[in-house]
Amino acid sequence: MKVPLLSFTHRYVPGTGTTLKTTLLLLHGTGGSETDLLDLGRELLPGATLLSPRGKVLENGMPRFFRRLAEGVFDLEDLERRTHELADFVREACDAYALDPDGIVAVGYSNGANIAASMLLLRPETLAAAVLFRPMVPMVPSRLPDLKGRSVLVAAGQVDPIANSSQTKKLVEMLSGAGANVAMHKHAGGHELGNDDVAAAQTWIREHVANKEAR
Ligand code: MLT
Repeated sequence: MKVPLLSFTHRYVPGTGTTLKTTLLLLHGTGGSETDLLDLGRELLPGATLLSPRGKVLENGMPRFFRRLAEGVFDLEDLERRTHELADFVREACDAYALDPDGIVAVGYSNGANIAASMLLLRPETLAAAVLFRPMVPMVPSRLPDLKGRSVLVAAGQVDPIANSSQTKKLVEMLSGAGANVAMHKHAGGHELGNDDVAAAQTWIREHVANKEAR
């Protein structure tokens, strides 16, 4: 299929089978690309539509979804702008590929998890659910959005020096405080993903997302 010219370089993999209403929005980590998480997406929900943009910010040649000033110190103005830009891309892609806008499930790792969390906070209508692998608190909105009816899985590394446990706790509190249904998976290691993270996300997606398909 010819890839339409949308506002982000991206990969699109059409869904097959029984998961046609769900699109996994795959958001890579720093230095990743639009191809990085395709296999993970296939593993998490076989047959789901996959939409995978490449972050537009370059940090020493490494793509990211927003600028940072130092490790863990985010450029909040850029983050806000990039969050809206990405949410607008998702809308564009829904039109271009005839995707169900109510079936977008973000799967983000590290920097990708942070922009997904930021979308939940600033553009909550964009995502039905999100799997956040190793997220931090990307920003604190002036008003909490209404996240009732949205489900989030936070997969944290217990000895992650980057997305540390106090960051994870604050994020979970913020998302739950906004009404989201938040589940946690604790991985015994650090920032890198383990097989247990993938297995937990698979089970969670099947329970929270794939079941919706049947309704
Ligand atoms: C990363 O390396 O991606 C960071 O730890 C998370 C971020 O900067 O958003």
